[in-house]
Amino acid sequence: MKSVVIKAMIAASCISAASFASSFEQEEKRFPESQYRHDVMEMSKLSLSGILQHFRGQANHEGHIAELADMMAKSAALSKATFAKDTRGTEGHTEAKDKIWDNWEDFASRMDAYAADTKAFAEAAKTGDPAVMRPAFGKAVKNCKSCHDEYRK
Ligand code: HEC
Repeated sequence: MKSVVIKAMIAASCISAASFASSFEQEEKRFPESQYRHDVMEMSKLSLSGILQHFRGQANHEGHIAELADMMAKSAALSKATFAKDTRGTEGHTEAKDKIWDNWEDFASRMDAYAADTKAFAEAAKTGDPAVMRPAFGKAVKNCKSCHDEYRK
């Protein structure tokens, strides 16, 4: 009996994975240049949201802050490359200001600081000690607003 249930579950998950893949291929043509960098930024936002829920006691899962901090650091580490291509004048919704590519060195160094500070926070989060985590968290998330103020519409 058990094995029948398991087989049915495996079959169902294969079907849904296949249909997901084919709908994904069909949609692929619709992705504008800016989609991927939006997605990478969204990963950072979602990790940050999970961390805040833990800090505020709205979520409480052992070890999750450190895992979420790792996800945020990984997203940050991918971000600079997602802006490397100058997309001015290309189709698709974007909130990126044109001056990103006029001031690429400044923008890139902000991205490097963002990656370094989120990585430092991810290390601090492994200690599980709020006194160590909080200042590192504050430093990491300062990067979000200061860059958005300057480079996001
Ligand atoms: C060095 C600059 C920079 C840093 C640092 C940065 N962002 Fe962004 N972010 C941008 C830019 C530019 C856009 C607009 C991208 C676009 O629309 O093409 C953006 C867009 C976003 C978006 C909207 C997604 C979308 O639709 O484009 C979210 C959410 C976001 N950022 C979250 C964050 C969070 C959270 C952090 C910090 C943990 C962060 N960002 C750090 C530059 C930055």
